[in-house]
Amino acid sequence: MRLMPAMIWAAALTSIASGESSTVYRDAETGFTFSENSVSYVLGKSLTFRIALPNPTSASEPYNVVLQVVAPKDVGWAGLAWGGGMLNDPLTVVWANGNSVVLSSRYTSSRVVPQPYTGAAYQLFRTGTKQNGTHFQLTAKCTGCTTFNGRRLSTTGTNKLAFAYSAGRPSDPGSNSSSFPFHDSFNYWSHDFSTAGMSISAPLL
Ligand code: HEM
Ligand SMILES: *[C@@H]1O[C@H](CO)[C@@H](O)[C@H](O)[C@H]1NC(C)=O
Ligand SMILES: *[C@@H]1O[C@H](CO)[C@@H](O)[C@H](O)[C@H]1NC(C)=O
Repeated sequence: MRLMPAMIWAAALTSIASGESSTVYRDAETGFTFSENSVSYVLGKSLTFRIALPNPTSASEPYNVVLQVVAPKDVGWAGLAWGGGMLNDPLTVVWANGNSVVLSSRYTSSRVVPQPYTGAAYQLFRTGTKQNGTHFQLTAKCTGCTTFNGRRLSTTGTNKLAFAYSAGRPSDPGSNSSSFPFHDSFNYWSHDFSTAGMSISAPLL
């Protein structure tokens, strides 16, 4: 099974992800109310992406977002593409580094290793960022992930997002500007932002 080419994996995973819809996840630890999607990166294993928005969210101004990612430890790196494809949108790439986790802001206009991107700024929250025996998890605020190239992600409906996954690890895992290997799978889903209203009492903003 491990020898299947990436494209066959991707085709198999596409049929799995279609039809999944977002659920609401109230995270007692951080106080955020997230809209959550879990997506298969290999058969039988999932990455979880959770998104929380300010409440209320301006109908027209740029807005921040809180992202929480939960990944099994066999994940070498995982990336979220905010515009739903690899090219020309903010990419949030995460990996584990020993007992800590790394978040890297990337962008690319061609299908090569995405370069560091200063158009998005992140604040990694200590609360909600952790590891245990099986998973690593990050919680971060992003400024600049929801507006790019004249696009503004919907706050009242769904947005098409994409992820990429690699079993291979970054070459310099302690550095957020490290290079990392090509992905083994990617997929798309519709993420419901309308249910991602952040709790007023969220302690971290
Ligand atoms: C490590 C360096 C990377 C290389 C060399 C690379 C290269 C490629 C190539 C050649 C494709 C075409 C399809 C294929 O051959 O399988 C592709 C597709 C794709 N990549 Fe990457 N990629 C990299 C990193 C990333 C990252 C970090 C993300 C997301 C955070 C990403 C997301 C995607 C997605 C979603 C597609 C599907 C086509 C699309 O929707 O744009 N890639 N990539
Ligand atoms: C790496 O971290 C530094 C310090 O937090 C930050 O200024 C920089 O933008 C980050 N780079 C990437 C590629 O995420
Ligand atoms: C390990 O951490 C993940 C992510 O935070 C969590 O979903 C999972 O329940 C935890 N497992 C145990 C045994 O605590």
